[in-house]
Order: sequence, then structure tokens, then C-alpha cells
Amino acid sequence: MITKVLNVTKSYGSGSARTEALRGVSLDINAGDYIAIVGPSGSGKTTLLSIIGCLIHPTEGEVYFDKRRVSDISDIELSILRGREIGFVFQFTDLLSNLTVLENVLVPILFHDGMLDEKKKYAVQLLEKLGLGYCINARVQALSGGERQRVAIARSLINRPRLLLADEPTGDLDDETSRRIIALFAAVNASGTTIVFVTHNKNFARAATNVYEMGDGRIQRILK
Ligand SMILES: Nc1ncnc2c1ncn2[C@@H]1O[C@H](COP(=O)(O)OP(=O)(O)O)[C@@H](O)[C@H]1O
Ligand SMILES: [Mg+2]
Repeated sequence: MITKVLNVTKSYGSGSARTEALRGVSLDINAGDYIAIVGPSGSGKTTLLSIIGCLIHPTEGEVYFDKRRVSDISDIELSILRGREIGFVFQFTDLLSNLTVLENVLVPILFHDGMLDEKKKYAVQLLEKLGLGYCINARVQALSGGERQRVAIARSLINRPRLLLADEPTGDLDDETSRRIIALFAAVNASGTTIVFVTHNKNFARAATNVYEMGDGRIQRILK
């Protein structure tokens, strides 16, 4: 098991502005899993992904990463753990707009020892699979939103993370680009990366091994 989410609730704000984003969610994520999460806007998908990624802490309940209680791990250690083990593709991901596409993809290797040449080769491979081979040396500031999103996907994979968390990675992309991303995720999962992603794309959800639906801060497994 990589991650265990146990009876987690999450509320934001207080008093009359209080929102219950998660109302008791449990989820086991095992090594090799390929999990899709679907559900309407506001149902708690991004909040759950952020909790799985140890970016925010739950209000109640526990999260375990590698059998360790995340609430017992210091912030410093958590940020190292995230950098080493987890790849993130979140909406509104920040890229460094003054750097080139290739440089952005290589930023996470700052957390890793490793061969720069090998990483560069892998970065180019990822970018080509995502249909960005033509703009590897372009500055990110010249790119469209959809292109930036794909740079963020390549960046999330450069360290071959054990766990990849992706929040609507095919949102607002055309069909061909979505298909490329779906194919890349399948290949990355087959080579050992555990994936949890949020999607509105039915084909993408169908590609996953397990599909969960969220509604009003709760989660249930959908049998395919
Ligand atoms: N940082 C935040 N502050 C206050 N409310 C939030 C915050 N993030 C999410 N929410 C609220 O929590 C609920 C769940 O949001 P979210 O997890 O983003 O759902 P989804 O990703 O399914 O759209 C929504 O009602 C949303 O408005
Ligand atoms: Mg969301």
C-alpha cells in the first residue's frame, strides 16, 4: 500500500462561511493502481487529491504514506518526500515563464541526484510523446494554455515518481492531445507508477483500473 486515507473530513473557513469539502472519505491506494476520480464540480475532488499529495492536512481522520502517519511527518520532510516520490499535475500549475520548455521539465531534478544527460533524454521523450517536440527550446511565455498544461505533465513525470496525482490533466484539450495524454499515462502506469487522476473525460476514466465517483464530499467506487 502506498497511501491510506482513513475517515477523512476537511472543512474550510468557519462560522457561516464554513464549507464541508470532505465528509468522511476512505481510500486505499496500492502500488500499481490506476485510479480515476469523477464527480461534479465542488464535490471535493481537488481537496482529496491535495490531501493524498500531503499538500494540505485533513480536519479529521488520518492519512498514511508508506504506513507512516502523515501528521507525524515534519513539513520539511514532507516537502522532500513530495519532491522525490510524488508527481503533481494540478490545475493552474505554475511554470517558470522565463525558462524554456525543456528547462521547466528539468526543474524537479533539483530534488534528485541523477544523470542530467539521461534526464534530458527522458524529458525530450516525454515532450515528444505529448506532441511538444516542436517547441522544446521555446520559452514558456510564448506557449498556449494547452501547451503549458502538457509541459506540466512532462515535468510531473521527469523523476519517474512512485505516485502521480493529476487534476483534470486533459481539461480543455482537443481530442488528439487528450489521447496522447491517456496513452502516456497508461505507459507510465505499466512501467510502475501508481496514478490517481481526476477527469471529466469518459474515455480517460474508462482507461483506469478503478473508478471512484465523488458527490458532496463523499466517495464511492463505481463498478465498471
Ligand atoms: N481553499 C478553499 N477555501 C474555501 N473553500 C474551498 C477551498 N477549496 C475548496 N473549497 C470548497 O470546498 C468544496 C470542494 O472543493 P474542491 O475540492 O475544489 O471540489 P472539486 O475539485 O470537486 O470541484 C467546494 O465547495 C469549494 O468551494
Ligand atoms: Mg477541482
